[in-house]
Amino acid sequence: MFFNRSDDGDKKASPASARPIPLLPLRDIIVFPSMVVPLFVGREKSVRALEEAMADDKEILLCAQKTAKTNDPSPEDIYTVGTIGTIVRLLRLPDGTVKVLVDGKRRARITRFVAHDDMFLVEHEPIEEIIAGDIEAIAKAVQTNFDGYARLNKRIAPEVIAQVAGLEDPARLADTVAVHLTAMKLQERQDVLETFDVKKRLERLQELMNAEIEILNVEKKIRSRVKKQMEKTQKEYYLSEQMSAIQKELGERDEFKNEMQELEEKAAKKVLSEEATDRVKKEMRKLKMMQPMSAEATVVRNYIDWVLSLPWDEKSEENYDIDHAEKVLDEDHYGLRKIKERVLEYLAVQALVRKLKGPVLCLVGPPGVGKTSLARSIARSTGRKFVRLSLGGVRDEAEIRGHRRTYIGALPGRLIQSLKKAGTNNPVFLLDEIDKMSSDFRGDPASALLEVLDPEQNKAFNDHYLDLDYDLSDIMFITTANSLGGIPAPLRDRMEIIELSGYTEFEKLNIATRYLVPRQREEAGLGSVKVDITENAIRTVIHHYTKESGVRNLERELGSICRKIARQVLKDGKAAEGKAAEGKAAEGAEREYRVAAANVPQYLGIPKFHSTKTNEHDEIGLTNGLAYTTYGGTMLECEASVVPGTGKLLITGLLEKGMQESVQAALSYIRSRQQILGLAEDFHAKLDVHVHFPEFVPKDGPSAGVTIATSVASALMKIPVRRTVAMTGEITLRGRVMPIGGLKEKMLAAHRAGIQTVLVPRENRKDLREIPKRVLNAMRIVLVEHMDQVLREALVLSDPDAIFGARTKPMEVDHGRLIDPSAAVATDEPTANVEAPSARQ
Ligand SMILES: Nc1ncnc2c1ncn2[C@@H]1O[C@H](COP(=O)(O)OP(=O)(O)OP(=O)(O)O)[C@@H](O)[C@H]1O
Ligand SMILES: [Mg+2]
Repeated sequence: MFFNRSDDGDKKASPASARPIPLLPLRDIIVFPSMVVPLFVGREKSVRALEEAMADDKEILLCAQKTAKTNDPSPEDIYTVGTIGTIVRLLRLPDGTVKVLVDGKRRARITRFVAHDDMFLVEHEPIEEIIAGDIEAIAKAVQTNFDGYARLNKRIAPEVIAQVAGLEDPARLADTVAVHLTAMKLQERQDVLETFDVKKRLERLQELMNAEIEILNVEKKIRSRVKKQMEKTQKEYYLSEQMSAIQKELGERDEFKNEMQELEEKAAKKVLSEEATDRVKKEMRKLKMMQPMSAEATVVRNYIDWVLSLPWDEKSEENYDIDHAEKVLDEDHYGLRKIKERVLEYLAVQALVRKLKGPVLCLVGPPGVGKTSLARSIARSTGRKFVRLSLGGVRDEAEIRGHRRTYIGALPGRLIQSLKKAGTNNPVFLLDEIDKMSSDFRGDPASALLEVLDPEQNKAFNDHYLDLDYDLSDIMFITTANSLGGIPAPLRDRMEIIELSGYTEFEKLNIATRYLVPRQREEAGLGSVKVDITENAIRTVIHHYTKESGVRNLERELGSICRKIARQVLKDGKAAEGKAAEGKAAEGAEREYRVAAANVPQYLGIPKFHSTKTNEHDEIGLTNGLAYTTYGGTMLECEASVVPGTGKLLITGLLEKGMQESVQAALSYIRSRQQILGLAEDFHAKLDVHVHFPEFVPKDGPSAGVTIATSVASALMKIPVRRTVAMTGEITLRGRVMPIGGLKEKMLAAHRAGIQTVLVPRENRKDLREIPKRVLNAMRIVLVEHMDQVLREALVLSDPDAIFGARTKPMEVDHGRLIDPSAAVATDEPTANVEAPSARQ
């Protein structure tokens, strides 16, 4: 369908178009048909045109200027297509300008400008709009779209939405929509006005509307974001204003100023390294510009505090007098002669060079033997302060070196923290339990320690938190460990190892009477009370209440005795007062509190240990082994039994690596000796062997080889093992006895357990020199080279020579010669020929 239509067909016929009508050039607006607009008119020509129209039929042609700025446009400056409108109202304003309300009616084109001096007069022709194609669909789409658009564009009144929704004429719909698309440019509006094909006009509007919707959507998003931001900043501003008001009220601002002043004074007094001085200055400047109560300011203040509280220049005066040092060490510790000597040598070197050079001391030994207290004593003897840092359980490098300040709640590492505690930069710094560190993914603490202990590197130790170089080179580092094995090898290389071993009963007794009892008495407040803990009582405590290499538990038990006495003293005091009040004379005012062996249980309860651990009878398959654990030497039993079976091997108890191999080696040896031991030829195929370690102690596998072999042999031969014998040694498949470590601790343990005979690998003979005389003298010590010798000593045999041959008789240690080191051990006396028995086969 195709038809032409004039917008105002009802009224004006085309002949009227021939008649010239006044023209109103518009600067910045396009008037569409169906639009009622107020216009302010000031230009003389325009006012005249209006007057002319008013005088006639009130119709006027409204055409836009091509450029709004042109003040006195010529015909070329004016678009030829415009809208004929009727003047609805005209108002003259006092300043000579005019306000008119025009109602757009229909499109028209200027055909000719009629010459006129006072105004524009034009001839025009009507424009026929083309309505063609499927216009309804697009009209509907435009309506729906306009609805969405109007919701976004707040400037469109709800009536307009309703009006647009109700319009049926597509041409009027298009023009009305065009009027309300606020973001359209003048040129675009003119284009829409000049699009006479209504369908095309609607399509064009659809496009323009979509573009606007998009922009509006973005604007909306931005608006809401901006709003949120504004709300937040406003809130912060508001709160901080409020806070400063509160602060003012409380006088905290002043306080802050005081605090700053204090910090500044502190900084001025303090001697720091150059780098630290600069840093503190910088941080102070930063701090002054901050909100005093803010989290950030706290972080900065804490940092400055840390830097200022470290000992940069503070030093204790060092005492290099070796005689004095010796006196102090003797005052604090009983015995430990060799160890003290080595410490004194170490101090002597320092006294000579006046500088800490050379390796760090590392005290290694079982718990409670006085490592920590020896280090404390070294500090006292050299006039240095003492700090202790326990490395047990430290697994993270950051624990030593600290966290960077960027971490929330960051602090300096434990090293720097301890130094702050020390207050001087040359203390004795004890790194305790260096063998108990572990490492994980967060980094190896040992590597940090390497740097700390290295005299080449520790001049400039850098803590992550401080981020300043700190000089550790005046610190005397001492480390302690329970066992050498736990110390990372690179650290071990850097240290001078001093091994402390366990104490004998005699030594313990002396330590107790001279040091522990007086100290515990003092601590329990019994300084002025007569207390007598007899030697036998102490012996009882050692034997029945403790089982240790050191004296820590002994000290604890003695302490507990002293506290019990203290309670008794108080009770007696009250009773005496009561009696005094009753007028009776206080009898025996100076009472002595005596603790004898017999009444130790009154203080400490029933005994915890039986002193001798040996069995009451010699038993088949039960052997005393000696082991060396991180807690010192200990005696432990190895049990073996055989039952008819198919040659299976079962090992139980808490086992360490290598135990399996030891049992296998023991069995191989026994099989090689099957004949002389009187075992059936196929014994190994018809019996199951079970080896068990009843006690819950970590065991070092290989050095239990002889013990296992003895138990198994005893079980197979059905001959009991002597309960007074204890042994240690590794064996080979052929039964050779190999040397072991920790002999001294093992011997002490055997001694504690009341053993009479100890079997020691011959190659360990040299180590016997280290063992206290008292211990050696108390026991028979047999050096063994071969398992045959072990069996002949350990098993209850009526005639060992008959089994093993007289020549296997092992060598017994001559105490007299051993004790004189120059005389003894090196000479190699003729010993039993261990090869003999095998030759016999
Ligand atoms: N030879 C000694 N003379 C006097 N007192 C001693 C002696 N040996 C140890 N002590 C005392 O025994 C107690 C325990 O010693 P300390 O704490 O030094 O043990 P340790 O070797 O550091 O043990 P751990 O390995 O468990 O840390 C301390 O009170 C110490 O004074
Ligand atoms: Mg300690």
